[in-house]
Amino acid sequence: FFAGMHSHMLHSAGSINASNARTLHILFGSQTGNSESLATDAANRAKSHGLIPVVKSMDEVEISQLPSMEYLLIITSTYGEGAMPDNAEMLWEAASDDAAPRLENVKYSVLALGDTSYDLFCQAGIDWDNRLQTLGAKRLFERVDCDVDFEAPAEKWISEVIPLMAEGAATVSVIDSEVPTAAKSVYNRKNPFPAKMLVNHLLTAANSSKETRHYEISIAGSDLSYEAGDAMCVVPTNCPQLVADIVKALGCSGNEEEPVNGELMQLSEALRTHFEIKLPGKELIEEIANRSGDQELNALLHNGNKDKLSDYLWGRDILDLLQQFPGVEFSAAEFLRLLKPLQHRAYSISSSSKKYPDSVHLTVASVRYDAHGRQHKGVCSTYLADLVDENTEVKIFFTPNNNFRVPSDDSLPMIMVGPGTGIAPFRAFLQEREARNASGKNWLFFGDRNAATDFIYREEIEAMQASGLLTRLDLAFSRDQAEKIYVQDRMMEHGAELYAWLEEGGYFFVCGDAYRMAKDVDQALHDVIRIHGNKSATEAAEYVNQLKKDKRYVRDVY
Ligand code: 2AM
Repeated sequence: FFAGMHSHMLHSAGSINASNARTLHILFGSQTGNSESLATDAANRAKSHGLIPVVKSMDEVEISQLPSMEYLLIITSTYGEGAMPDNAEMLWEAASDDAAPRLENVKYSVLALGDTSYDLFCQAGIDWDNRLQTLGAKRLFERVDCDVDFEAPAEKWISEVIPLMAEGAATVSVIDSEVPTAAKSVYNRKNPFPAKMLVNHLLTAANSSKETRHYEISIAGSDLSYEAGDAMCVVPTNCPQLVADIVKALGCSGNEEEPVNGELMQLSEALRTHFEIKLPGKELIEEIANRSGDQELNALLHNGNKDKLSDYLWGRDILDLLQQFPGVEFSAAEFLRLLKPLQHRAYSISSSSKKYPDSVHLTVASVRYDAHGRQHKGVCSTYLADLVDENTEVKIFFTPNNNFRVPSDDSLPMIMVGPGTGIAPFRAFLQEREARNASGKNWLFFGDRNAATDFIYREEIEAMQASGLLTRLDLAFSRDQAEKIYVQDRMMEHGAELYAWLEEGGYFFVCGDAYRMAKDVDQALHDVIRIHGNKSATEAAEYVNQLKKDKRYVRDVY
């Protein structure tokens, strides 16, 4: 990987007459790599229509460049509740500013990726579409909004929009280059690899308040490869006991034959392998509210108080709702229509392929909690945890995370903040640096609740410290003393040195909890730069923005 890999003219010099050919700019806003991979697909298609595609991550584009992007495709996912993906934030901020330039010469179309289980479905794409119009750009083709099964509609959008973008362009005689991305594996979301589980062991102590596990999954015999920083997706199946309980609550036998993707399948099998049966989607909740006529639920749904609704839904799953409203009856077919297709879950890989070419390691906290009078468990984390037999099959594929990479310059310092399972990609990064014999300094901030029970990979980490691979290690065990100590407190304590590492060209990586930890760590980073760089708050924010632009401040947070 080298910096700037996202920004490539997809042609070899001399093969075309650039003054005649039409350039198509394809900008992606990506959280997980799907938009990026679709941008590459669109670029390939564009080439076959004689266009010169230029693919860029949104954080590589300045607002001042937009007016000259005459032909423009925007492919963006939406993050959480209607937010821009990380790499789109800055460009979006500039585009939504009153001072944004007019875009009269721009002809564009937007492809939006999203998930209908969220309220603000595809909002980032919608925002771009509206804003481009407001700035005077001409929408050449209607926006397409894709749900989690995005492949088919995205492919359709690409095949329809590219000819429109190419219309009237000078034809180009020879285009002989290839898009410079790694070869795609035959295994993907639609065709996952049946891998073997090699190792499944508990990392946290038996008496810990958490259950974090280490997995090793074989990719031997596949054409799959991965890079430190990538995520691996696991296609789970649902817990048979939960399936049985739901079937019972429905008053069904489980043997009912229902059409699923064009094939007849027994209800129990369909629920186990094809649908999300844990967290209720909006449609199911609304239907239960309708059919029950329950006042409380209807009020929560219709008086617009989202916080109260999410409080009500906290920890409440589909089975809880069915049991709570026994008067509501669904036929098997009606019920299936109210469910979403079962999705894969992505986990940051915790190994380097340089050290483990034939296996992938994951570090996953099993989600288990008591609520509403029963035990609950997370879908995929406990699916993995319960795969105890050696050599059980688990369906996997990879999603690249091209922004989250060990620096290509082995001499530059790395600062890694990864409490809890946030340590996963940093275990991979450190293995990668060791395998490369990289001379750069490495600093890890790690923590969790208690050292005695939650210091996962302790021996490995201490060995890395002893060998000198880990230059600095700062630990924050939040519950080992009366007052809470978090990773960001350690950052502040060692702010001068942290700032010095940044000034040396250091990279700053964060992985783990997005809602609390990553926000507070971001604040601490600003504070460190402000205090130790003798800067104003505005100057510190500019410094941080520059780090982001240089891909030296990157996050893998969830
Ligand atoms: P706590 O649960 O004791 O509050 C991994 O989950 C670690 O992250 C735990 O030690 C947890 O502490 C801590 N944590 C919780 N909130 C945090 C925050 N806002 N910033 C950093 N760490 C946090």
